[in-house]
Amino acid sequence: MCAVSLDSADLAATRLREVAARVSELRRRGVQPHLTTVLVGAHPASEAYLARKHADCEAVGIASEAMVLDAGTSQADLLDLIARLNTDPARHGLLVQLPLPDHLDSDAIVAAVDPAKDVDGFHPVNLGRLLWGSDGILPCTPAGILDLLQARQVPLAGRKVVILGRGSIVGRPLAMLLSRKGIDADVCLLHSRSGDLSAIASADVVISAVGIPDFVTAGMIRPGAAVVGVGISHVGGQMVSDIADDVAAKAGFVTPRHGSLGAMTRAHLLLNLVAATEAAARKGH
Ligand code: GUN
Repeated sequence: MCAVSLDSADLAATRLREVAARVSELRRRGVQPHLTTVLVGAHPASEAYLARKHADCEAVGIASEAMVLDAGTSQADLLDLIARLNTDPARHGLLVQLPLPDHLDSDAIVAAVDPAKDVDGFHPVNLGRLLWGSDGILPCTPAGILDLLQARQVPLAGRKVVILGRGSIVGRPLAMLLSRKGIDADVCLLHSRSGDLSAIASADVVISAVGIPDFVTAGMIRPGAAVVGVGISHVGGQMVSDIADDVAAKAGFVTPRHGSLGAMTRAHLLLNLVAATEAAARKGH
């Protein structure tokens, strides 16, 4: 078997066109969607991620501001800034880029963002809504993975899905999302220190978010499985996913070894932003 590529570039472009259409409609009604990002200190990877987010905003008609604060910014000053941004009705989405410098308490900073403007879907209120199965802003990478699997018609209901990685940005929220009513996957959440990874051998879908190159090999999966690499690493200057090269010869679907789901994550960030703007407009601000 030679796996079908789960390349997400076309789907991400389609989602951005959907965002652009909704932005046009908001602007026609006099509402200009706006994203604010906050970066503390110099961090080359974060700067590159943020540059792509702002480029996407510009491409679809979303206004945006990139705030860059001094590396020594105090917790109190950052909390003050977030409080001011939270109450500014012209700002519909607010994202504090992680990781933050060590002297800052990231959990407290994430929790200070107004949940209605938390377009990352990282706030405990939004994660709690995900756990409850009620409406809220979904974390962008899990939402992008679900979107990709559904768009490529990978069956999930009643299927065994193994998620590798238990982080609060991808693995754990993804487990909550895929096991929700209506999606109904049989989810098994494992991680890089799991004692027994044998569940992978019978999984219909394997999603790896551990960030270890070649963590999932052909010998671990069943023929025809759908295999998604979310974690990325840099090896010899090249970006590689968690999925080894030999998986493509055995899987039914596989994400490209040198690709990333970054474009899907950014598309869902802007879908969240446009939904937050529509919700604010409905409330009259
Ligand atoms: N750092 C790496 N990815 C992300 C992201 O999606 N959002 C934020 N806020 N920080 C990140």
